[in-house]
Amino acid sequence: MTNDNLRMAAQALEHGRAGIKEAKMRQRYHFMAPAGWINDPNGVVYYKNRYHVFYQSNPFDAFWGTMYWGHAVSDDLFCWENLPLALAPGEWYDNGEGGGCFSGSAIEHEGKLFLIYTGVYRDKDKNIQCQCVAYSEDGVTFEKYAGNPVVTAPKGYDSSNFRDPKVWRHNDSFYFVCAACRGDTAELLLYSSKDLLNWDLVNVLFCAGKRYGDMWECPDLFRLADKDVLLFSPMGMGETTSLYLTGKLNYQTGVFVPEVQGRIDCGMDFYAPQTLLDGENRRIMLAWANAWQWMPWWKDWGPTHKEGWCGSFNLPREIVKNSDNTLSFLPAPQSKTLRSKGRHYESFTVTDTTELDVGDGVAYELQVQIDKTQSRATGFTLHLRMNGHEETLVVLDFANALVRVDRSRSDGWSTGVSQSRLLGAGDSTVTVQVFVDQASVEVFTDMGRTVHSNNVFADNTHCKAAISAQSGPLAVSRLDIWPLKATML
Ligand code: FRU
Repeated sequence: MTNDNLRMAAQALEHGRAGIKEAKMRQRYHFMAPAGWINDPNGVVYYKNRYHVFYQSNPFDAFWGTMYWGHAVSDDLFCWENLPLALAPGEWYDNGEGGGCFSGSAIEHEGKLFLIYTGVYRDKDKNIQCQCVAYSEDGVTFEKYAGNPVVTAPKGYDSSNFRDPKVWRHNDSFYFVCAACRGDTAELLLYSSKDLLNWDLVNVLFCAGKRYGDMWECPDLFRLADKDVLLFSPMGMGETTSLYLTGKLNYQTGVFVPEVQGRIDCGMDFYAPQTLLDGENRRIMLAWANAWQWMPWWKDWGPTHKEGWCGSFNLPREIVKNSDNTLSFLPAPQSKTLRSKGRHYESFTVTDTTELDVGDGVAYELQVQIDKTQSRATGFTLHLRMNGHEETLVVLDFANALVRVDRSRSDGWSTGVSQSRLLGAGDSTVTVQVFVDQASVEVFTDMGRTVHSNNVFADNTHCKAAISAQSGPLAVSRLDIWPLKATML
């Protein structure tokens, strides 16, 4: 059954891929599925010196449906080689209509690559979620464990809300954390195992009543410097759809005690991040650049379904811990390999609006540093993807200490404004880094403590850019623009 499903899905993908050759909205350097629908990154892992990414895939359609696991591999996080689908629904425990192989994670053990994922099946009128294992000798073809499911929802927990295991090793044991619900309250559960097949419940790793909404999807837990870090994607917490907590996990009790909290991304298109540790000991994070229906700003899935696809990942980020135990999310260092010959400007003043030379105006990186001590401006705006009457605005408002990304006049489809604090509004220099691609704008401020990821669907007539100063002259100390290479086309 599973093999038949894999074969049919592979054919659908081939067919889909042929159909999107002429697509105009495809990203140039952000990861996408070859065709069809993509959501969460799954099983992100550095295995045998390469980055592997799996992902929630519906190969048959440009909308969410019964879930498969797509798979791709890369040396540098930007040039990706598609591999065959890794998991297809087909067993009794992962074969539900509107179910299938939900999110999970990967780990290497004795040279094999293990996947641990959520199987979702139908039982009468309910979808039941359970944790399952698959493994591979070569990292390409996966076999589901005959003893699946390896974990079912404990007594007292909602079996329809028990998902997204993220696995790691600590000393000589394996652990996973997964999302669970007791009554209508979110919890994260911690399990341990010696062999990745037999699992014991250790404890409720984290609970917080209703403080962070009512279900915490896609948890991730890892060590960063001298702290443990917990990431999750809360449902029902308003505009906060991704959260981090730094603190300490006590492996004896299985309880995580948080110390500092923050948002991972303040944009409207960032969800379900998952991390890996790479060969250089960097903590790299990938996430899905889209929004679910339950988010406050959701309108629909975006116009790309007309081209036979939907969804991409955000720019890969490196997570770094600051001395106050907050986190910074910086563009992964490999993003520098995308740069082609740039333009560099130093020490100039913007009095009104200055046009910027951004190459073809569709795929580029822009970094600007403002000398506040020499500026009387109360803020400034980057006008991106302009075409005369439409534009996407990035506003840095020093006076009110705010960052705003406004896509209400981006392209005739997009709407909404994402907003956050500008933490360094009082500093003598303010730096902003922006990554623009065919269908997205990502803004890094405060040295990566604040990031805004937003999709826009402007066509290629939207190719101009400018900087404008608010209420007085703006002293720019440096401005760099690099056209970025297309690695995904
Ligand atoms: C998060 C999520 C997960 C689930 C998957 C299903 O975006 O809802 O909780 O496993 O997507 O595709």
